Amino acid sequence: MLLALLLTCATLVAPARAGTAPEVTYDKYSLTVDGRRIVLQSAEFHYFRLPSQELWRDVMEKFKAAGFNAVSLYFSWAYHSPAPGVYDFSGVRDVDRLLRTAHEAGLYVIARPGPYINAESTGGGFPAWLKTVPGRARSFEPGYREAYREWLHRINPIIARHQVTDGGPVILYNAENEYQVNTDASYMQDIQDQARADGITVPITTNDCCDAGSWSSTWATGPGAVQIPGVDDYPQSFECANPGLWGPWGEGLTEKLRDDIPVFAAEYQAGAIDLGNAGYDKCRELTGPAFMKFFYKNNLIQTGATMFSYYMGYGGTNWGWLAQPNDVYTSYDYGAAITEARRLTPKYDEFKRQGYFLEAVAPIAKTDALTPSPAVPAGAALTTVARANPDTGTQFVLVRHTDRAATSADSATLDWAAPDGRYQVPVQVKGRDAHVLVAGYDLGGQRLAVSTSSIMTHAAIGGRDVALLYGTAGAPGATVLRYASQPSVKVLEGAVRVAYSGGDLRLDYAHEGLARVLVTGGGRRPVLLLIGTDEEAARFWRASTPAGPVLVRGTELVRSATLRGDVVRLKADTASGAASGAAAAGEVEVFAPPSVKRVEIGPSSGQPASQGSGQAATPSSGQSVGGGDVPVTRTASGSLRGVTRAPVPADLPALTGWRAHPEAPEAAPAFDDSRWKAADHTTTTSPHPPKTLPVLYADDYGFHNGNVWYRGHFTATGTETTIDLNAITGLRGNYLVWLNGRYLGSAAGGVEADSGDQWTPPNPDPGPGHFAVPAGVLKPGADNVLAVLVANMGHNDDWIADDLRFKQPRGLVAASVSGTPIAWRIQGTAGLDKLRGPLSTGGLYGERTGWHLPKYRDKSWKEAAPSAALTPGVTWYRTSFELDLPKGQDVPVGLRFGGDPSPAYRVLIFLNGWNVGQYGADIGPQREFSLPAGLLNERGTNTLALAVTAEQPSAGPGPLSLFTYGNVRGGP
Ligand code: GAL
Repeated sequence: MLLALLLTCATLVAPARAGTAPEVTYDKYSLTVDGRRIVLQSAEFHYFRLPSQELWRDVMEKFKAAGFNAVSLYFSWAYHSPAPGVYDFSGVRDVDRLLRTAHEAGLYVIARPGPYINAESTGGGFPAWLKTVPGRARSFEPGYREAYREWLHRINPIIARHQVTDGGPVILYNAENEYQVNTDASYMQDIQDQARADGITVPITTNDCCDAGSWSSTWATGPGAVQIPGVDDYPQSFECANPGLWGPWGEGLTEKLRDDIPVFAAEYQAGAIDLGNAGYDKCRELTGPAFMKFFYKNNLIQTGATMFSYYMGYGGTNWGWLAQPNDVYTSYDYGAAITEARRLTPKYDEFKRQGYFLEAVAPIAKTDALTPSPAVPAGAALTTVARANPDTGTQFVLVRHTDRAATSADSATLDWAAPDGRYQVPVQVKGRDAHVLVAGYDLGGQRLAVSTSSIMTHAAIGGRDVALLYGTAGAPGATVLRYASQPSVKVLEGAVRVAYSGGDLRLDYAHEGLARVLVTGGGRRPVLLLIGTDEEAARFWRASTPAGPVLVRGTELVRSATLRGDVVRLKADTASGAASGAAAAGEVEVFAPPSVKRVEIGPSSGQPASQGSGQAATPSSGQSVGGGDVPVTRTASGSLRGVTRAPVPADLPALTGWRAHPEAPEAAPAFDDSRWKAADHTTTTSPHPPKTLPVLYADDYGFHNGNVWYRGHFTATGTETTIDLNAITGLRGNYLVWLNGRYLGSAAGGVEADSGDQWTPPNPDPGPGHFAVPAGVLKPGADNVLAVLVANMGHNDDWIADDLRFKQPRGLVAASVSGTPIAWRIQGTAGLDKLRGPLSTGGLYGERTGWHLPKYRDKSWKEAAPSAALTPGVTWYRTSFELDLPKGQDVPVGLRFGGDPSPAYRVLIFLNGWNVGQYGADIGPQREFSLPAGLLNERGTNTLALAVTAEQPSAGPGPLSLFTYGNVRGGP
């Protein structure tokens, strides 16, 4: 009843009421916030993959600067909860601060607390302790029900106090995640009921996949149905090794799910997981600008979608034991527009071109399909598709190749019946591309009759309009503006032909560099037309200030701007250099009101960013970057042009002074394990029946993450010949075995049995290891010790809502020494590291003893570099280094392994005690690891510790070095 009422209310478009909180409503066209239609342009960000609160601000400011008006946030239950009833929202888990940061950056938030999130994260976001809770996960069954309600009652109130309706950024609440298989409507409904009870008032959405659509179909108004279902689409697949693919998983057109709601692309592909270990640069190529231009624009115009959330905008790092190991390794860069090291890529430029357009051209938020679309001459290789705004008449025309996969350059003259008249205008599509062209548009104080250049943005600045148009380099373009009388036209730069007839001012040109045309008179306020190539257009930034917008050409990034008196102050990143740290100075050109005479680049002076709704945010707390005046001259375009100062080169020290220490005392028979837990359970809640007793599943004894040790004591008869073990680790995992201190060898751990949508019956022999008992090692009649070190690489996801998959055990699942009874003890992580959370630390001896921590004193360790020869077992290395990175600059630093990665070893990397990743040939293709500021002390001492587990004798993983991913003056 309550839900029905809410549904009814929410579908009405409520006008803004003075003095009341903004409302989020919707109709068949778009979301409306406080009476204003918006096109939701969101990108996904996982705070749990960037354990540095100050860098959250960086990523979100970069989103905002690309024209995104929203960020989509999964909240990972596993990240916050080490044990039932225990939750932590402090430090890098401070989601309150996260939501405040989004607000300060001027972004709306799509809050996605699951409870299940998938996201290639361990357990799909479920804490591993949930594996020991009865009741099927992702169902309404008791046990699971109490557990997920506990999570929701912790996270929902935090989200609730940051809703748009309460002056915060949260605009939508996403229930569950791609919940399409093995569904339970009572559960889906209960998530929503709990959210409402916890104060969530914004519309509830869900992201459907796979066309199953049970929460989205027109008939789905019963239990579990959400207000605004959306669709996930990954048309390019995850085959990064084959970046030339073109829509192998479909055309990527988001379906309209119900007549009363906008088309919502809830997760639209903007990168890929690197399933084939091709490296993320290939994923970036697979999902690069060509894909974005063609697929995103097709989606916009063919389906009329007005709600987009791109997965991922920034991927980040699977630090600690955050990865779901069957799909990903340490880096979750994702081939996203912003790299793991927070660098901007050509994909970012394309987001910016599209995002600025959606932000500037308001009529796109409400369109209907328009037929006929502008005519293309018979036989032309091009097709048009059109939409029009029913109120303004503004037309939006998609021009693309008829053959979706064509790579040729094709031209045509469009015969376009536009609202202001009929026009013949040239278009060209070069390679895999598509253009969205506009006609009949009130562009500021101008009337744009038609243009075959794309609009990037326009702004009223100082009594005139500045409009930025663009097109493919070399392609012809025509723009027609309407006037009451003949205006005066000055071509300031570029080759532009000008003709005036019957009220139409027609400009013809080829897109080359940046043409500039100033039009005055004709009964309208002046307009400066900037007509560039795609690349030139991408050099522009738009920033809002309370005194109106400014446009900036150049710099690496403009985060925000303020206007005060005759000064424009830009919070900008300038002059990035090569990865070596060398940097060049760069040009900056500012389009601001004529009263502005000076340009400063420096920290924000406290002017708030503004959200799409225009509501004020609290001031940003930007640090001084020591910017200062940029000497500028006034250009013929009325802009101010100058050159910014180059960043100071950053020096990085060599990594020397390594010390080493062997580990694994647990392998020695005399090791005292009396304080370890006895592993003696004879029953388990796991749906996987034990193959041998006792039950040895690590989760059953409370050890959920990282390495776990087993010591099995048995009185040998002397006739034992074989040791038969079986362990499940998740993909990339292994286990090492010792008998009475003698190393017997290793084996690969078992992985989940299925390969996608369908669970295949559990593998009866998932991770076998058979070892012959060597002669002379057994001590008949006495205590013998079998020691096993098992890597737990993370937990299966629960994509198909099947406990057999999610609750697959980790650790030993079977053990026998020729049938002789064994008494087992088990040891994993020792206590919770409150600072670093439940997923950072595992159960190696060095981890239990604090060898990874900065304060550990290693002076007694012998001097040895990590390239020294390794013997099987675990060896630790430590060193420290001093950094003195230039203040007021953003210099992302990485750690590079220079040797040949070998399957003989695997390396856990600890930076100042934080597990920042894993290296090794069996782990993934990664050789460079991001050391994010925050964990990295940029001005001071840092400690690196490596835990190297070798299965065989081999050369070590060194040499290691530090490197920079870039260097800019500025930063968050
Ligand atoms: C979607 C899922 C996301 C993520 C993505 C692939 O199906 O909702 O959580 O797993 O696939 O990266």
